[in-house]
Amino acid sequence: MQGKIFRSALLIAGAVSLLAAYSLQPVQEPPEGTTYLEPSAQRSGDPAAGYQYLLYGDFVSSGIPLKVYKRASGAGSPDDLGRTGDAAGIPFRFNVVTTANGAKVVAPTCLTCHAERLHGQVVVGLGNNTYDYTNDASANFRTADMAVRFAFGENSPEWAAYFPASRATKAIGPYIRTQTRGPNPADKIFAALSAHRSSTDLNWLQAPQFDIPTETVPTDVPAWWLMKKKNALYYNGLGRGDFARLASASGMLTMADSAETRKIDEHMPDLMAWIRTIEPPKYPYPIDQELAAAGKKIFEKTCYKCHGTYGDSASYPNLLVSLEKAGTDPLLSQTYKTHPEYHTWYNNSWYGQGPNKGQLLPNEGYVAPPLDGIWATAPYLHNASVPTLEDLLNSPQRPIYWKRIFENTEAHYDKDKVGWKYTIETSKTGVDTYDTTLPGYGNGGHRFGDRLTAEERRAVVEYLKTL
Ligand code: HEC
Ligand code: HEC
Repeated sequence: MQGKIFRSALLIAGAVSLLAAYSLQPVQEPPEGTTYLEPSAQRSGDPAAGYQYLLYGDFVSSGIPLKVYKRASGAGSPDDLGRTGDAAGIPFRFNVVTTANGAKVVAPTCLTCHAERLHGQVVVGLGNNTYDYTNDASANFRTADMAVRFAFGENSPEWAAYFPASRATKAIGPYIRTQTRGPNPADKIFAALSAHRSSTDLNWLQAPQFDIPTETVPTDVPAWWLMKKKNALYYNGLGRGDFARLASASGMLTMADSAETRKIDEHMPDLMAWIRTIEPPKYPYPIDQELAAAGKKIFEKTCYKCHGTYGDSASYPNLLVSLEKAGTDPLLSQTYKTHPEYHTWYNNSWYGQGPNKGQLLPNEGYVAPPLDGIWATAPYLHNASVPTLEDLLNSPQRPIYWKRIFENTEAHYDKDKVGWKYTIETSKTGVDTYDTTLPGYGNGGHRFGDRLTAEERRAVVEYLKTL
């Protein structure tokens, strides 16, 4: 019940937010080491239809047959999204899709990565920060192959509906493993899939057409409620042109052909319109208003040039900050330079051509993101390497090896440092340890809070709770 109230509150808040206008122009001359990211034209859409497509859509049209899934998973899970029909009782990260040949399959959705539990509630739009991508998922599909063959045989509609998911996961599974639980391999999933799709007709290629590197650069999953302010997508501002077209590339996992691709793309403007209505969750605990007011003053001196202003006169400057100036782990940004074949593939394919084209234009640097709802999105930085805001604003204090309990409950939330409680380790002891010495996992840079006194830092952290 609480979940339902929360969701309708989100929807209402979302509708109201459409009326709020953000100043998308630079607040002033971009500071040294930063570049203004220009906006591009976007298709409009119907948010309500977009939400329905998010819950029940078929942009991934292949997966484990429902019968096999139910046999393996037993009883249904609690209802988090209030869905009806086959999807009721299926975990919120998945949907049940009925394919053209009548088979029902359990397929991943955007919410595999773009929803997360927070203090007992599923928050749609909060990035997944608990999934474990350290294993090679192709092993699970080899087991599933046997189960589906045994249950239906290879000449069945179920096998036809299942096969594309199995084929794709077995091809890319070994290449998309992270070194630690929590961060996401989405950039690498895209890269690996582009190696297996023809850029002319988007058909599946069993042999990869270019080398897929073995290392995976980890990323956090950005909160969807920030989208309405952004002129460019992804941590390095790579995604330009039509955002709906960019998002439709999620179909690359299992789409049969370019006709299916175009069908997915027709729904995406609605989904993007819904995403633009999402508001961040409010900080649920008491805030020291006096301290926060002091923090606001410091923020509006030290931080606003990159991160914008909040409240009545909200503005967001949409700046890309050079690698040198940001100082954070450069590997994610650099990968696009060392491996131009992925974005070249995209820009040459149907996705990157014609009306409403998406474009992947790599930059060297990272976007200074809006900080709305920042209390809810720990761990921090593009690679999720810093567990709390207090650590982010005091770089010498950041833990080199750290571990947290992956239950996003109040008991594990640190209200003083703002983020997840963690223990400091002396080495990597397992997949739950975040090891910041690994390539791509570094926690350096963003030293903009280092010069603050302890009292000033406390004030800024208190202010950040109000955003
Ligand atoms: C496997 C996990 C995964 C799935 C599934 C997924 N995403 Fe994402 N998404 C990510 C990650 C990770 C990023 C950030 C990547 C980066 O910036 O390098 C992202 C970024 C985005 C962004 C840009 C956000 C920003 O602030 O720049 C949009 C929009 C988006 N996804 C929409 C979607 C939609 C719509 C779907 C479903 C059709 C979807 N995603 C499915 C993981 C996923
Ligand atoms: C020169 C521009 C710049 C200044 C000044 C700046 N930041 Fe940032 N900030 C960035 C960039 C760029 C990132 C993203 C870096 C990355 O993810 O690698 C970032 C990331 C962050 C994040 C993490 C966002 C997330 O979702 O993980 C927080 C929080 C933050 N900054 C707060 C602050 C505060 C508070 C100040 C002032 C004390 C400040 N920043 C000053 C550029 C800046």
